[in-house]
Amino acid sequence: MAKIKPSKGAPYARILGVGGYRPTRVVPNEVILEKIDSSDEWIRSRSGIETRHWAGPEETVAAMSIEASGKAIADAGIDAEQIGAVVVSTVSHFSQTPAVATEIADRLGTDKAAAFDISAGCAGFGYGLTLAKGMVVEGSAEYVLVIGVERLSDLTDLEDRATAFLFGDGAGAVIVGPSQEPAIGPTVWGSEGDKSETIKQTVPWDRFRIGDLGALPLDSEGNVKFPAITQEGQAVFRWAVYEMAKVAQQALDAAGISPEELDVFIPHQANVRIIDSMVKTLKLPEHVTVARDIRTTGNTSAASIPLAMERLLATGEAKSGDTALVIGFGAGLVYAATVVTLP
Ligand SMILES: CC(C)(COP(=O)(O)OP(=O)(O)OC[C@H]1O[C@@H](n2cnc3c(N)ncnc32)[C@H](O)[C@@H]1OP(=O)(O)O)[C@@H](O)C(=O)NCCC(=O)NCCS
Repeated sequence: MAKIKPSKGAPYARILGVGGYRPTRVVPNEVILEKIDSSDEWIRSRSGIETRHWAGPEETVAAMSIEASGKAIADAGIDAEQIGAVVVSTVSHFSQTPAVATEIADRLGTDKAAAFDISAGCAGFGYGLTLAKGMVVEGSAEYVLVIGVERLSDLTDLEDRATAFLFGDGAGAVIVGPSQEPAIGPTVWGSEGDKSETIKQTVPWDRFRIGDLGALPLDSEGNVKFPAITQEGQAVFRWAVYEMAKVAQQALDAAGISPEELDVFIPHQANVRIIDSMVKTLKLPEHVTVARDIRTTGNTSAASIPLAMERLLATGEAKSGDTALVIGFGAGLVYAATVVTLP
């Protein structure tokens, strides 16, 4: 049997830089209340959300990604040509093919970097990070750009009082590259497809195209509603609170990090009550900085963790070298948690 040369990678991988982009339009709860029977007080107290950003026509998935990536590349102190792979996690890019990652890789000026999209809902950033770490350590790319980006306002039914207030738009990006020390811990991840009905698109594209009027949701004027994200809020809430705290603990254990050693906790920004409950269950000490970016960003799915990470570093609430636990969870249902050293 012929001998195949093994690929050579770095001993370890780390996040070297982070960048975020938030659309210019800030949408307060008052705007949401134009279409649903609710109140600012209810939305704030049940979800923690005060404002969110909605993308304008120019703030496409690619455009927001390029803005966030430019910042991450500068933060990492590398050139775009050094990027060997671009991984984009999104559920709201409307062209089925080609992947938006290839356009982003080209427009950023990479040297023909490998580029592909992944669909892992609100765990998408953790999935991308895990792939990137593998590529750097295995040697197929020296630097990997991981982007989480969403235009969830395109997939929100503003007449659905269970979801209208939840979602926002934005992009977060990190550069993952070589390290002499472990700086991205083992990932605890998985899927629970038996719960796939709890968060889903109201209507699959093929049925929407056929216009199966009998079964499709209609708007107040009798028109077929554009597909949107729908969820069983309480079921997802309970799953997140009970199951995800366990997964977060497993990620800490896998990395050999005690709650006392942790500096920062960056959970997916789905609901401030889920975040508070996880902090309590994990018994995180007072000194741990907890991301509550949801208040002004809403739930941006795959973008939520890198956006929150970027903001904590920008405001000085977290600093480079801090040890952070990140956990994403959502549609699938899927989840991914890991401990990282902040860039
Ligand atoms: C969506 C969410 C904020 C709703 O909060 P909740 O406390 O579960 O609310 P419920 O659906 O149980 O509804 C409670 C009550 O408020 C009412 N209500 C629902 N939406 C409302 C709204 N927008 N405004 C005012 N009242 C509302 C309900 O009718 C219900 O009234 P009732 O008690 O008289 O029947 C919450 O379920 C949630 O965050 N779920 C998880 C989301 C998540 O993690 N997603 C992750 C994947 S991306």
